[in-house]
Amino acid sequence: MINVAILGYGTVGSGVFKIINENNSHISRRAGDDVKVKYVLDLRDFPGDPVEDILVHDVDIIMNDETVDVVVEVMGGVEPAYTFVKRALEAGKSACTSNKELVAKHGVELLQIARDNNVNFFFEASVGGGIPIIRPLIECLTVDHIEEIQGIMNGTTNYILTKMEDEGADFDTVLKDAQDKGYAERNPEADIEGYDACRKIAILTSLAYEKQVDFEDIYTEGITKITTADFDYMKKIGASIKLLGMARKDDGVTYSMVAPFVVYNDNPLYNVKDVFNAILVKGDMLGEVMFYGKGAGSLPTASAVVSDVVDAVKRQGYTEKIFWNDTKRILGTVDAFTTPYFVRVGLGGEDAASVKAAVESHFGNVEYIDGVKSDEVAFITKVMSGSEYDKAAEGLNVVSRIRVSK
Ligand code: HSE
Repeated sequence: MINVAILGYGTVGSGVFKIINENNSHISRRAGDDVKVKYVLDLRDFPGDPVEDILVHDVDIIMNDETVDVVVEVMGGVEPAYTFVKRALEAGKSACTSNKELVAKHGVELLQIARDNNVNFFFEASVGGGIPIIRPLIECLTVDHIEEIQGIMNGTTNYILTKMEDEGADFDTVLKDAQDKGYAERNPEADIEGYDACRKIAILTSLAYEKQVDFEDIYTEGITKITTADFDYMKKIGASIKLLGMARKDDGVTYSMVAPFVVYNDNPLYNVKDVFNAILVKGDMLGEVMFYGKGAGSLPTASAVVSDVVDAVKRQGYTEKIFWNDTKRILGTVDAFTTPYFVRVGLGGEDAASVKAAVESHFGNVEYIDGVKSDEVAFITKVMSGSEYDKAAEGLNVVSRIRVSK
């Protein structure tokens, strides 16, 4: 018998409880032992709920119970999740989490504690919700050098950008609609400013390139400056705008960033719409592979968490080797990151021909996008570094600039 304790009976925790009960014989067969939820920890009471009899308010009951084999942490936030997971691992229990803040901040340390105690710390659901991406990275794509990862890893912002694109509605209107539908939080900052995606790309960059990437070092730009006019240009060139988490190795330098990118329709990420997530990985041998699905929500996220529980049971007695060491990775700066840029320059009373002449004297040859707005000149630059772009843009009336996915 494998006893599981679930820390947090919210959206994901209730999904974990439901899945372990509803698919119990299947899960137990795959795990090789009967899997049962022994405790659910929450501050709240749930009278009449199926967890009523196994609900506890005191975490010590779980930590001191030697028959608890696996702790599932689905509370979110760094504390008390960190303290609880650390205690569980030190008590010889494996831990599985969906908590990207916890993994981005303390993942490498918790992996070491798991090793020291001969147990496992798994976190498949922390990136891309129900989409398998952590296990593919650590177990399947082990042969390749990862050249690049591009991911749509935040459903809220992808929903907002899709609505702006499809319905021509402005950012504030779509955000309010998303909040009314429950797709965006009342305080949407973590999503729209890119902080959520930043934690996720920090985890993927650490795993892909094996050293610790501190999320605080990752250049992060959200979607608040994107306008419907930007999308008008995109329609003209067969492209879209997506908030991407991006990790790349270029000339031996590792880059990791979050920013809106122009994505052309020949990139598989172009068709990822609404709340869906997708992560495109480019390996030097494999080429491109894309992982697509639901990046949030109770059952999809819980499905990934419970698959970690099964893996933890299958690996009882040894710690799986995960290549993520605590040496800090110094990232390449955004000034050195090379990419083409989509740029809109206001005419400011001048005629288009003279503004184009100025653009060419600053940027050299560019690809113009004509016929969208009569009071602007818009174009795509050649590939250039961030500092080259800043220098070239000086003195021009730039209305908007968005990086272009290569
Ligand atoms: N707010 C997040 C999203 C939830 O929209 O993707 C999953 O991390």
